[in-house]
Amino acid sequence: MQRVLTVLGIESSCDDSAAAVVRHAPPEKPEILSSIVAAQTDLHADFGGVVPEIAARAHAETIDLCVEQALAQAGVGLDGLDAVAVTAGPGLIGGVLAGVMCAKGIAAGAGLPLLGINHLAGHALTPRLTDGLEFPYLMLLVSGGHCQFLRVDGAEAFTRLGGTIDDAPGEAFDKAARLLGLPQPGGPSVEAEASEGDPARFAFPRPLLDRPGCDMSFSGLKTAVRRVCEGLVAAQGGLTRGDRADLCAGFQAAVTDVMAEKARRALDACPGIPALAVAGGVAANATIRAALQAVADQAGARFIAPPLALCTDNAAMIAWAGIERLRLGQVDDMRLSARPRWPLDTSSPALIGGGRKGAKA
Ligand code: KG4
Ligand code: ZN
Repeated sequence: MQRVLTVLGIESSCDDSAAAVVRHAPPEKPEILSSIVAAQTDLHADFGGVVPEIAARAHAETIDLCVEQALAQAGVGLDGLDAVAVTAGPGLIGGVLAGVMCAKGIAAGAGLPLLGINHLAGHALTPRLTDGLEFPYLMLLVSGGHCQFLRVDGAEAFTRLGGTIDDAPGEAFDKAARLLGLPQPGGPSVEAEASEGDPARFAFPRPLLDRPGCDMSFSGLKTAVRRVCEGLVAAQGGLTRGDRADLCAGFQAAVTDVMAEKARRALDACPGIPALAVAGGVAANATIRAALQAVADQAGARFIAPPLALCTDNAAMIAWAGIERLRLGQVDDMRLSARPRWPLDTSSPALIGGGRKGAKA
């Protein structure tokens, strides 16, 4: 029988400082004993995006407090841990460094094994933490900083089938919201407006649908929204509530169509794959979720969307990925380094997009 493992996870690759403790006592389901997330949203609010230097400083100031809180809430001391897992990339390098240094300190001080985790692997393995999903499955990561389809065959076996070549979809939602004077984060604001709008009034493009494969592009959509907006302002001096709702509905419909069609192609590329899972903030969008569910149903695949708190950045996913690696007999040592870029699938070409939150890898 597999042994009981209790792992501390640390995450600091973007704008959330997070720490969590996860325990796995097979054959029981894994248990999240604690999951602390200290968001930096307010610190970056005035700048229209994440400022790397501000993020790094905030992580350095906060991460040990998150760890302390996570251990206290879990009721676990350092002597109750089997390992420390930390996001070692990809992400904003100053933040990743803050987490890695904290993890090294704990591992060295407490004599614990250290595990460097790829942030994207953390997201991609989450459906196994939440739903006990077996390999293989297809994963769609869609957030403000990530956008890719991954075939997941094992805790270390990822094949990227496609991804964005420019903006991540959450980034496109945020930019569209900014253009329309709606509050940030843009996704929920655009979704709320869209619920009252007519998706057919404005014919927005469906980028890259005319090209084979699973790559996506969202920056042209944002430009299309700006053009229509400028046209309306020039013609009538401003936007009515109805215009705004129709613009949001049209934009959301275009993103949804692109994602659904690309998901269909990704499923086609993996015949017989039993499940499609999603992660990332954009997976909160009810229209997008419903479209992906329909695509999965059509392909005879299960559709899995973990609870939102585990879809967005958190440290429980890092602790879990650590448990997966430990079970494969892998550990790192004090030479572990922080990596701004770290593709999960080194055999596929690098993505071009940089993303609001740093490297998409
Ligand atoms: O995963 P996440 O919390 O953070 C990272 O980007 O890593 O994702 C945040 C992104 C934001 O861009 C936000 O606008 C988008 O997810 N988002 C949504 C919705 N809720 C959040 N996009 C579309 N519809 C939503 N309901
Ligand atoms: Zn993430």
